Amino acid sequence: MDKLVIEGGLPLHGDVRIAGSKNATLPLMAAAVIAPGQTVIQNVPRLVDIHTLGKVIAHLGVTVEHDDDKVVMDATATPSDTAPYDLVRKMRASFYMLGALLARLGHAKVSMPGGCAWGPRPVDIHLKGLKALGASVELEGGYVLADSRQMNGGRFVLDFPSVGATVNLLLAVSTLEKETILENVAREPEITNLIRMLNRMGARIEGANTSQLVILGSRDLKPLSFAVIPDRIEAGTYMAAVGRCGGDVMLRGADPEHLTMVLAKAAEAGIKFTVTTEGIRIQRENDLRSVDVETAVYPGFPTDMQAQWIALMTAAAGVSLVTDTIYTDRFTHVAELMRLGAEIKMKGHTAKVYGPTQLTGAPVMSTDLRASASLVIAALAAKGRTDILRVYHLDRGYERLEDKFERIGARIRREQE
Ligand code: EPZ
Repeated sequence: MDKLVIEGGLPLHGDVRIAGSKNATLPLMAAAVIAPGQTVIQNVPRLVDIHTLGKVIAHLGVTVEHDDDKVVMDATATPSDTAPYDLVRKMRASFYMLGALLARLGHAKVSMPGGCAWGPRPVDIHLKGLKALGASVELEGGYVLADSRQMNGGRFVLDFPSVGATVNLLLAVSTLEKETILENVAREPEITNLIRMLNRMGARIEGANTSQLVILGSRDLKPLSFAVIPDRIEAGTYMAAVGRCGGDVMLRGADPEHLTMVLAKAAEAGIKFTVTTEGIRIQRENDLRSVDVETAVYPGFPTDMQAQWIALMTAAAGVSLVTDTIYTDRFTHVAELMRLGAEIKMKGHTAKVYGPTQLTGAPVMSTDLRASASLVIAALAAKGRTDILRVYHLDRGYERLEDKFERIGARIRREQE
């Protein structure tokens, strides 16, 4: 296994190119399974999770080629309807095969996804929605057996605006030529990216970026070439790193529209950002102020930025309250940050972060993707050497992280553990 070795304490200066969004690419790859023919997805980040989903899709009989920042898929041949446990358990987003295979074949056998480092992560809303729209859904031996040939459209209100459930339901009804109305859907930019692609393929989906979608599918969806939006969480992560370490960095290609709340909170904390045609310039010149955040569904403060915000707030004068309302136990990074000298007290699903603290290097352990990102931010600011173990978590969601940080002045290298 690899580890990252970081000698912290330096400010960050220069340019970072923000890659395509991981959480947008995964649903787009699932949508490509629906249309017979060749689909090219562009601006794809070079990440383990993308390859993992590629393997699941290839297992179904769709050809998948990764070519630099493109994924070329050919779904001409009728795919198998079964997505097996040993592949689906590796990554939750593989569960999107359920919606894609129902749209393509009308039936599917997909393993229930596993949990993750911080909780069970159920899929009850996905299944309830399919049933409400007329599909038959059975659970057998850890698999979901679904048949959508009797689906007749209609209306379903999601109990919670779940990103995954919105993706799966959109995929499932994308070839249904009866009107479906979905209420209380997720409004993340990644969902809007998927809606745009499905509409370009021939579906008619109205209400993008709102809580209500009206969908008229088409049995004749066409393959296409389509580009992924930039990764707002990668951009937010680099913003937090510049905020914590000081410096002046251009986040090239970042879309400020997708980061409204994060940038508002950053400005409140004293971080200066300038939007240009090239992206977002981040500058930190003066001391930081502590700012409370509470995660919420989009357009609220993203749970995927919660860990990075805690790392940032260790530099802020005062006490900041960081509450995660989406995943109430997503705080495995707190114990590791405290090993670097952070002063944090947990109260329920709120972290009370005291600052400013001078962090000092130590060996720490990655536990999940965004927790690892917060450890990198803290290590870049800490005095001395930090070894971050098990960086395979980072490789799932951050493209060439050590190269990008090295280019803006960090002393960071990858070593065998
Ligand atoms: C997506 O996960 C993202 N993953 C996550 O990013 C992100 O943290 C999450 O959305 C929230 O924004 C991808 O896009 C691949 P949810 P997802 O369904 O779809 C509950 C990262 O770091 N829920 O919106 O699994 C659930 O337990 C990853 O890139 C149900 O109760 O998230 C959670 O509390 C980590 N029943 C909340 O909703 C369901 O059927 C949000 O889950 C579905 C969800």
